[in-house]
Amino acid sequence: DTSAIPHPRWRVPLVGDVIGTSRRTPVQDTMRLGRDLGPIFTRRFLDREIVFVGGAGLAAELSDEKRFAKHVALGVEELRTIGGDGLFTAYNEEPNWKAAHEVLVPAFTQSAMRAYHPAMVDVVGELVGKWDRGGVVDVSADMTNLTLETIGRVGFGFPFDSFRRERAHPFVRAMIGSLRHAQRKGFQLPLAAKLFGRAAEERYRANVAYLAEVVDEVIRARVDSGSADRPDLLDLMLASGELDEVNVRNQVITFLIAGHETTSGALSFALHYLSRNPAVAEKARAEVDAVWGDAEVPAFEQVTKLRYVRRVLDEALRLWPTAPGYAREAKADTVLGERYPMKAGQWALVLLPLVHRDPSVWPEPERFDPDRFEPAQVKARPGHVYKPFGTGERACIGRQFALHEATLALGTVLRRYELVPDPDYRLRVVEMLTLKPDGFTLTVRRR
Ligand code: HEM
Repeated sequence: DTSAIPHPRWRVPLVGDVIGTSRRTPVQDTMRLGRDLGPIFTRRFLDREIVFVGGAGLAAELSDEKRFAKHVALGVEELRTIGGDGLFTAYNEEPNWKAAHEVLVPAFTQSAMRAYHPAMVDVVGELVGKWDRGGVVDVSADMTNLTLETIGRVGFGFPFDSFRRERAHPFVRAMIGSLRHAQRKGFQLPLAAKLFGRAAEERYRANVAYLAEVVDEVIRARVDSGSADRPDLLDLMLASGELDEVNVRNQVITFLIAGHETTSGALSFALHYLSRNPAVAEKARAEVDAVWGDAEVPAFEQVTKLRYVRRVLDEALRLWPTAPGYAREAKADTVLGERYPMKAGQWALVLLPLVHRDPSVWPEPERFDPDRFEPAQVKARPGHVYKPFGTGERACIGRQFALHEATLALGTVLRRYELVPDPDYRLRVVEMLTLKPDGFTLTVRRR
């Protein structure tokens, strides 16, 4: 029963809360609604009602693993067509989740990151090779090149040659097409689906088939060449003997997507804020100069020591958590916030950009301020109110990977370039299940 929960005023019979909603920007539309409706609210689309949580207190409660668990819903559920029982889209009770989790956890330890560091440095070197030519750069596109290249090579020994292409790799285009389709499907009205659905559905199938084809090629290349010089994700999976062929394919596709879209967005937002906050950029740059000195390329530890650069990333992910939400279901009948009954299996979507801007926790929430992540300030905040990487057992396995890769890239860019923003640019956020700045360019000049 959701009758105690507020909902938008203009609820249209049959269709639901569609006024002021675009299929292109569901997250930002819902953020606007949430500002008026409070920490918990519902939206109805046709016969589906979704409970959203945007308040930090309720979100923290949903992190309680004894009472709540991940729920595969909405966009994540749509992605099962692509990721199947891969880690991200697996249902909690699917045996392959635990099997793959156990096989892959060793690939994300600190010592694993140390082993990936040289390959990550190589890829950042290719970005620099391009940016050294100077001029105007398309930041979101180049961050996507960087992160796809990194997960492709580090995870699977598979180069996409991203920096040598004029257009994005066809894998990226197919992936973006699929993500867009998965996002829009949830908002489509039946008539529109009938009129436009078939062609879109066919394109979607073709895209998904192409993604699988690329991945099969990646796997075949490995089987043919034997194991990699350094054991990577693919080796771990193939050598374990724990995962069937279809599941390995699902994992590879999952990692290629989950492993780069979100990190690319995080880097782009961070660069946007750095270019708009010269004092922050100066402080970050001073840290990089001090820690890296004249080292031609930074050593692993020199990246982990960039505490302020890390805070810039943390703060970018606070304002724009690039995976903007996750769903939590009740394990048994319970009452949320001492007020809202939830039956076993009933779920709510945690909308992170609202949780991360809850003014009861974050003073002046719209202001970009990396100092919020100084240890003293972190300690003074309640727990479980900052969740860009999700929560509990099903939280992001790639968190350390993303943070090392992104800190290395930001450090390199800060040390090497002045970042000159386009004075007319106003941040526009595009949504394709994940978030990223749209049409965001910078002029880069060697320091
Ligand atoms: C899960 C965010 C980078 C692989 C998640 C979840 C979030 C998230 C919120 C939980 C989703 C849910 O509860 O439904 C992010 C962000 C990233 C990032 C913001 C970058 C800034 C990465 C990277 C990888 C990765 C680099 C791989 C190399 C995964 C996987 C899962 C996951 C496999 C599913 C884990 C499981 O359920 O066992 N991520 N992620 N992510 N992420 Fe990430």
